[in-house]
Amino acid sequence: MEKELLPFPLLPWLLLTCFSPFFVHSMELSTSACSSSNISIPYPFGVHGQSPSPAQGFEINCTSSGPRLPIGNNSISILNISLLDGYVTILASAASRSPQCRGNFASFSLEGTNFTFSDTRNKFTAVGCNMVAMLVNGTSGGYSGGCASFCSNNSIVDGACSGVACCQAPVPKGLKKLYSDFTNINITASLSKYTSACAEAFIVEQNSYAFATADLKILNNSNKSPPQYRHVVLEWSIDGGSCEEASRSASYACKENSYCYNSSNGIGYRCNCTNGFQGNPYLQGPGGCQGNEHVCAYIF
Ligand SMILES: *[C@@H]1O[C@H](CO)[C@@H](O)[C@H](O)[C@H]1NC(C)=O
Ligand SMILES: *[C@@H]1O[C@H](CO)[C@@H](O)[C@H](O)[C@H]1NC(C)=O
Ligand SMILES: *[C@@H]1O[C@H](CO)[C@@H](O)[C@H](O)[C@H]1NC(C)=O
Ligand SMILES: *[C@@H]1O[C@H](CO)[C@@H](O)[C@H](O)[C@H]1NC(C)=O
Ligand SMILES: *[C@@H]1O[C@H](CO)[C@@H](O)[C@H](O)[C@H]1NC(C)=O
Ligand SMILES: *[C@@H]1O[C@H](CO)[C@@H](O)[C@H](O)[C@H]1NC(C)=O
Ligand SMILES: *[C@@H]1O[C@H](CO)[C@@H](O)[C@H](O)[C@H]1NC(C)=O
Ligand SMILES: *[C@@H]1O[C@H](CO)[C@@H](O)[C@H](O)[C@H]1NC(C)=O
Ligand SMILES: *[C@@H]1O[C@H](CO)[C@@H](O)[C@H](O)[C@H]1NC(C)=O
Ligand SMILES: *[C@@H]1O[C@H](CO)[C@@H](O)[C@H](O)[C@H]1NC(C)=O
Ligand SMILES: *[C@@H]1O[C@H](CO)[C@@H](O)[C@H](O)[C@H]1NC(C)=O
Repeated sequence: MEKELLPFPLLPWLLLTCFSPFFVHSMELSTSACSSSNISIPYPFGVHGQSPSPAQGFEINCTSSGPRLPIGNNSISILNISLLDGYVTILASAASRSPQCRGNFASFSLEGTNFTFSDTRNKFTAVGCNMVAMLVNGTSGGYSGGCASFCSNNSIVDGACSGVACCQAPVPKGLKKLYSDFTNINITASLSKYTSACAEAFIVEQNSYAFATADLKILNNSNKSPPQYRHVVLEWSIDGGSCEEASRSASYACKENSYCYNSSNGIGYRCNCTNGFQGNPYLQGPGGCQGNEHVCAYIF
C-alpha cells in the first residue's frame, strides 16, 4: 500500500521542476531593470554595466524616476517596452506650435536614432481654432498629411477630437521628426470666443489622448505655456536592411529557433520565436527562444 502511493506525490513535484525554473531562468537572463522601477528592459535594450549589455543605440539610463532613453541631448521617460511587437512607449512632448504662439519650441527629433514614430499606434493631432495643420515632409518639403479644426461658441466638447477645436490624421510610416505648417482661416460664421491664432500639433498614442478645453486655454494664454508631456509610441528595429540581406551578415540578430520579418516602418527588421518556442529571439542560449520539451529533457 505505502509503496504504491509513493510515486503519486512525487509526480507533480517532478513537473514543477520541469516548467517553473525555465520561465524564471529565461526572464532573468534576457532582461535588465532599473532598481527604481518595475519596467523590464529586454535585450536588445539594456543598462550600461548590466548583463546582457545593450546593442548599439539601445542603451537605457536608470534614474531615480525610472528608465530613460537618451535621445539627442534629452533623456526621455520610458513607460513600457514591448519586445515582440517592437514598441517603446515614452512620455514626451513631440509637438510643434504655430508662429503666433509665444516662446521657442524645439521640435523633438528621432534622427540619428534607431527609432521612428509608430504609424500604427499614434495619431497626428492638432489643437486650435479655425486653422489647417499640415504635416510637412522634411525631405521633400511637400505635405504628407494633415487636418482642419474649427470652433464655434458652445460646440467644443471635451473628450472628442473630430474637427471642432481638435483634429487628427494618420502618422506616415518611418516618421522621425515632426514638421508642421499652420494656416489660419478667418470664417465669420464660426466666430468664436477663442480668438487666439496659436495652435499646437503633436504626435500622441492614438487612444491615450482625450481633448480637453484646458488644452485650448493653454494655447490662448498670453504667457508662454509649458510643453505638454503625453504618451508617444516609438517603433524600433534592427538596422541592416531587409531580412534577406541581414541573414547573410555576421551580425544577423535573429538567434536560434527564431525567424525574421521586415519591420513595417520600412527600416530594418525584427525577430520572433518560431511557433512553439518562447523567449527572447535576439538571444542565444537559455534566455533565447526555447521549447518546453527541450528544457525538460535538459533538466532530466
Ligand atoms: C508597476 O507597478 C505599478 C504600481 O506599483 C503598476 O501600476 C504597474 O502596472 C506596474 N508595471 C508593470 C509593467 O508591471
Ligand atoms: C546615459 O548613461 C551613459 C553611460 O552611463 C552616459 O554616458 C550618458 O551621458 C547618459 N546619458 C544621459 C542623457 O543621461
Ligand atoms: C546638444 O548640446 C550641445 C552642447 O550643449 C550643443 O552644442 C548641441 O547643439 C545640442 N544638440 C542638440 C540636438 O540640441
Ligand atoms: C506594455 O506593452 C505590452 C505589449 O504591448 C502590453 O501587453 C502591456 O500591457 C503594456 N504594459 C503597460 C504597463 O502599459
Ligand atoms: C518624403 O519625401 C521623400 C523624398 O521625396 C520620399 O522618399 C518620402 O517617401 C516622403 N515621406 C513621406 C512620409 O511622405
Ligand atoms: C476676419 O474677417 C472679418 C470679416 O471679413 C474681418 O472683419 C476681420 O478683421 C478678419 N479677422 C482677421 C483676424 O483677419
Ligand atoms: C461667440 O461669442 C463671442 C464672445 O462671447 C461673440 O462675440 C460672438 O459673436 C459669438 N459668435 C457666435 C457665432 O455666436
Ligand atoms: C483668449 O484670450 C483672449 C485675449 O487674451 C481673451 O479675451 C479671451 O477671453 C480668451 N478666451 C478664453 C476662452 O480663455
Ligand atoms: C542603431 O543605429 C546605428 C546607426 O544607424 C547602427 O550603427 C546600429 O547598428 C543600430 N543598432 C542596431 C542594434 O541595429
Ligand atoms: C523584405 O523586404 C524585401 C525588400 O525590401 C523583400 O524583397 C522581401 O521579400 C521582404 N521579406 C519578407 C520576409 O517580407
Ligand atoms: C510572434 O510569434 C507569436 C507566436 O509564435 C505570435 O503569436 C505573435 O503574433 C508573433 N508576433 C509578431 C509581431 O509577429
